[in-house]
Amino acid sequence: MDVDKSGLPPRIEAHTLTMLNDPYPKYAELRQAGALCRGGPAQWLVTRYVDVAALLSDPRLAHQFPEAYHRFSAGDTPIRSFFQRIILGRDRPDHTHLRRLMGQAISPGLVRRLHADITTLVDDLLLNAQAKGTLDLVADIAFPLPVMVVCRLLGISADDQDEVRPHAIDLGKAFAAVVPEQERLAGGRAVTWLRAYIDELLAQRRRRPGDDLLSRMLTAEDDGRRLTHEDIVDNAVFLFFAGFETTTSLIATGSAALLQHPDQLALLRRQPTHIPHAIEEFLRYDAPVQVTARLTKQPIAIAGRTIKPGRVVVLSIGSANHDERQFHNPEQLDVTRDPNPHLSFGGGIHYCLGASLARIEATVLFTGLIERFPTIEPAGAPVRQLGASFRSFARLPVYLSDR
Ligand code: HEM
Repeated sequence: MDVDKSGLPPRIEAHTLTMLNDPYPKYAELRQAGALCRGGPAQWLVTRYVDVAALLSDPRLAHQFPEAYHRFSAGDTPIRSFFQRIILGRDRPDHTHLRRLMGQAISPGLVRRLHADITTLVDDLLLNAQAKGTLDLVADIAFPLPVMVVCRLLGISADDQDEVRPHAIDLGKAFAAVVPEQERLAGGRAVTWLRAYIDELLAQRRRRPGDDLLSRMLTAEDDGRRLTHEDIVDNAVFLFFAGFETTTSLIATGSAALLQHPDQLALLRRQPTHIPHAIEEFLRYDAPVQVTARLTKQPIAIAGRTIKPGRVVVLSIGSANHDERQFHNPEQLDVTRDPNPHLSFGGGIHYCLGASLARIEATVLFTGLIERFPTIEPAGAPVRQLGASFRSFARLPVYLSDR
């Protein structure tokens, strides 16, 4: 952080924080320095809980995604239109309509039915893990589970999943804040491939509707209006981003937190009723989505300073979740913490549409891990995945035993 003698708030480029192995001491420093920091050009960074929570719900700010697609402006129209169509980039009143229709499609009934599928998927993954003993928890569990769940959600057959997976991985690269140009181009190609794939799947659902998300998106209706073909395709493709690596990150960071805190793991073994609290605590302690960004639509006062329209306001969810003004002992992992009003699923109109699905995936997985394996120990040094869209691990070697 640059010390500034001008009386202006401190300056820090928000994306540099994603390069830190442990950004939490830096967040604490920034919260202490003031409510507002200067980010990059025309950019502000907000780090305190009360401000982040309020700004997530403030209608005077729009999501920054439509602005972000300008990064692809050099004639790359497929990607531009993708960023424009996805729900996260829409604003009221357009967003309200799309959200109602997508909410009908990702219904509680559909999520309940997926619960049974998730239990079977987790059983298979843990059986495989048991046979291995020593494994990489990221590659063997945290990574495959969410992509299989998104495929089930969209009604993609098990046979196609191996073909789809690399494109789902590449898709994330289109969203990352700092990536080499080559990777960003791979992200763009993934959008084009996944669009064509979903397009074909939709044609099949039109002929033979099923009980999957795509079939539901085709029939969802709000005030006599339905989703357009393009909206269905792009928002289905978006789910590979929204529902995949976020959940991988929760499973990886939650497991790493337990490995680093054996007392908390022992507590969960003694009192498994705390598993749902533990999952909220994993979300708070090391949030998968550390930052989101908004664009001011009109002048707005933040922490006593008037921010002009058209400015990017970066909201640090990771810092808000560790704000000592909101949480008792925020740097401590406490799997019994309740209430736990973390902001890891966002807030306001863009509050995560898959929160209940993510919670189910994590609950089934952590319950299975703890019940099946009396021994869960590190089997090497964990490797952080730095600079990515989500806070996660590249590798997490563990030893699991049923004795
Ligand atoms: C939005 C986090 C899993 C679908 C969001 C937002 C956050 C978030 C922070 C708001 C972003 C913003 O305001 O900029 C997470 C985390 C997850 C997770 C931490 C896992 C632990 C999922 C899953 C799905 C999903 C499994 C669906 C399969 C969505 C959608 C939105 C969203 C569609 C956009 C909602 C809107 O714009 O109205 N998520 N998410 N997410 N999430 Fe999730």
